[in-house]
Amino acid sequence: MSQTFTILGIAGSLRRESYNRGVLRAAAQLLPPGAVLDPFDLDGIPAFNEDDEQRPPDKVVELKRRARAADALLFVTPEYNYSIPGVLKNAIDWASRPYGDNAWSGKPAAIMGASIGQVGTARAQYHLRQVFVFLDVHPVNQPEVMIGNAADKFDRDGKLTDARTRDSIRQLLQNLVELTERLRRPRGLPSQPSAALPPPPSHIEPSRVNPAPAPA
Ligand SMILES: Cc1cc2nc3c(=O)[nH]c(=O)nc-3n(C[C@H](O)[C@H](O)[C@H](O)COP(=O)(O)O)c2cc1C
Repeated sequence: MSQTFTILGIAGSLRRESYNRGVLRAAAQLLPPGAVLDPFDLDGIPAFNEDDEQRPPDKVVELKRRARAADALLFVTPEYNYSIPGVLKNAIDWASRPYGDNAWSGKPAAIMGASIGQVGTARAQYHLRQVFVFLDVHPVNQPEVMIGNAADKFDRDGKLTDARTRDSIRQLLQNLVELTERLRRPRGLPSQPSAALPPPPSHIEPSRVNPAPAPA
């Protein structure tokens, strides 16, 4: 990366000792070189009202500005009643409006989440992925960072201490940067030089593998 790569980071909890806010703080320490996290706090965003979407509150104007300025997005979501917390969905809805002025459109995004349950926000994360379809947001698929039993993975100061979770977050952020670069590359160019392609899996005869296109 030659220039600073900015990731707008949003945690979907307002709770003071929120695990998800803790994950967002950890993410800021686990970024690839050259990337910075711009954390956006959802506190103070009123409930969405379509009557007001042509004159949104200042905080929403700011959210839209920072979403547009960012190279990529990071959503760290709790799971509420098997879905996305209202405070996060509310902010997403505000910044998607008015119709035709969707600030999320075309952005690459990573999703993480922490929960005190065992499933680690999986259901909320898949709902968020569904929302991304209409918003035209491009999610990173892997690794899925679903932090279950969160109470065991933070210390008393709210620091995420679990080493495997920290490794997954680091990898997901790296993959977010790589996806962003892939999306920016002009169409038709191979994603990597043919010489760097990995060998085919051992159960496939090499003669059955299509030759890679020559670099343009
Ligand atoms: C309204 C509500 C609904 C919840 N529903 C779920 C749920 O469906 N699945 C789950 O794993 N945890 C659920 N929880 C527990 C959350 O995982 C827990 O409160 C978590 O700490 C919230 O994230 P935070 O620490 O970032 O605020 C729920 C909590 C609340 C307040």
